[in-house]
This record gives sequence, C-alpha cells and structure tokens, in this order.
Amino acid sequence: MTDQATGLASLPQKNVLVTVEEGVAWVKFNRPEKRNAFNPGIVYEMVQVLDVLEMEDSVGCVVITGAGEAFSAGQDLKEYFREPDAGHPVLRERLHKANSGWQWRRMMYFPKPTIAMVNGWCFGGAFQILLGCDLAIADEDATFGLSEINWGIIPAGIVTKSVAMALSQRKALYYIMTGETFDGRTAEDIGLVNFAVPKEQLVARTTALAKKLMEKNPNVLRACKTAYHYTREMSWDMAAEYLAAKSDQTKYRDPEDGSTKGMKQFLDEKSYRPGLGAYRRD
Ligand code: ACO
Repeated sequence: MTDQATGLASLPQKNVLVTVEEGVAWVKFNRPEKRNAFNPGIVYEMVQVLDVLEMEDSVGCVVITGAGEAFSAGQDLKEYFREPDAGHPVLRERLHKANSGWQWRRMMYFPKPTIAMVNGWCFGGAFQILLGCDLAIADEDATFGLSEINWGIIPAGIVTKSVAMALSQRKALYYIMTGETFDGRTAEDIGLVNFAVPKEQLVARTTALAKKLMEKNPNVLRACKTAYHYTREMSWDMAAEYLAAKSDQTKYRDPEDGSTKGMKQFLDEKSYRPGLGAYRRD
C-alpha cells in the first residue's frame, strides 16, 4: 500500500522513533533529555507518523511509549506554550490544532488498535495521548500527575473532558484539584490504565496484548472502537439505530466475512464455541 515516498522510509525518525516488529509499530517519543515533553517537533512528526502507520499494511497494532525515563512530561512549557504564545497567532493556532488533532481525534478513530505503554513520568498533556489510546499498560512505578493546578493553568487541550470520561467524579476532581502524583498501581486501581506491571515485564506484556488484538478480525475491531466512541455521545434510541446500521455496514464491508464463517463453524461444523475462543479466520 505504501511506497518509499510515503511509507516508513519517509519518516524523519528524529523527535519520534518508529520501528516495526512482527506487525507491531513501536512509536517512541524521542526527547529523553526533556522528558519527552511535546514540542512542535513531536507534534508535527506524530501527525506524519500516524499518516504513515494507518496506511502501512505491515502494521496491525500501534504501541506508543517514550525514550528514557519518561513517557512524556506533557506539553513543552517553553516550545509549546511560551514561545508560540509570544509569536504569530496563526502559527500558534496551527500548532494547537495539530496537537489536538493527533492526540485526540486522530487517536480516537485511528483505524488500528493502539496501546499506550507508560514507561515513566506522565504529566499534564500526556494524559491526552494516554487516554487517546484504546488500551494502556504502565510500569507499576511510573509517576502520573495532572500538575496543571500547581503552576496556574487548567488541564486544557481536551484533558479535562478525557479524564472526566475515564474516571469517577471523585477521582477526577481529586487529581485535577490537588495535582497530587500517583503511581502505576493506583492508575490501574482507578481505571486509568488496564494493567500495571513490573518494569521488566512491560515490553513482554505489551507485546502479548498487541498480539492478542492482532488475532482479531481487523475490520470488526475498527468498527467496535468507532461505535464505542460515537455511541457515548448519543441518546439510547439514536445509539440503537446507529448500531444496527453500523452492524450491517461492518458485515457488508468485512473482506473476510467473519460472521458467516463463525456461524458456519458453530452451527454447521460444530467446530468451535464463541464463548471459548475466536472463530478460525483462514
Ligand atoms: N516542558 C518543557 N521542558 C520540560 C518539561 C516540560 N513539560 N518537563 C521537563 N522539561 C525539561 C526540564 O526543563 C529540563 O530541561 P533542562 O535540562 O534544559 O533544564 C529537562 O526536561 C529535564 O527535566 P528535570 O526536571 O531536570 O528532570 P527530572 O527527572 O528531575 O524531573 C519531571 C522530571 C518530574 C517530569 C520534571 O521535569 C517536571 O516536573 N516536569 C514538568 C511536568 C509537568 O508539570 N508537565 C505538565 C506540563 S503542562 C501541560 O502538559 C498542559
């Protein structure tokens, strides 16, 4: 699908490093000396990375993580806030749009499964990409914090809304209002990440999860996440109608005709049980 001009070979591999292994794209923020704070370099490179990865047939799952001891220390206070705020307003607007584009909408509806692998510090704006990913695994000793309150801003971008969707009101407001840090185990307890594991197991557990996702029918997986995000904003009646239509569309567009195969294997061949595993895809 991709060629030299638009494919993996076209990526700068500067602020963001990308490697592909056995179908998993490992996307690593690469400013360890600045704790992977999101500067314009990361923002614009991530837009490019996502453009390439969604079209790259060799990629079935995307893992997002950070180089060094940080996942990300959030937005770059100097290069994302202070300098652009003092510069041309159109350029500032362009930067903010590109940032919310990749961290939020792009991730929410990204056509392949995504996993945040939180390997260390995770602050402020980094919550956006954390919650933009479908699933998340953290080092149990990673440090999380909505630190905005501590230096005079609110969790903006779309962080406050994302946190409100993911956590209970009590937990969300507690961390927003106190700025208190918490570790990976607490992040699992409050539902911010799926699992917290010892550092030495982080890559293996993430790889296993990515492989599990890649065993599923990718067409249906894509429709599942799209339907999840859209129906959250709909009334019950609208959601029921949308899901009926989305279900037909998913079946109609499925190149491997999964539902027919599954039914045949269960009803006719009696060769599998849906409750105990997946249908045979080949
Ligand atoms: N923006 C810009 N630069 C940053 C950021 C950031 N968010 N975070 C770290 N850096 C820089 C530091 O200024 C320092 O640069 P320097 O070497 O040129 O002085 C370098 O990264 C290393 O940072 P240290 O603080 O020395 O690293 P340490 O390991 O001691 O601490 C920690 C790491 C806890 C993450 C600390 O850097 C920190 O508190 N950073 C800010 C976290 C934060 O509040 N993020 C939210 C930003 S606002 C938002 O996202 C909306």
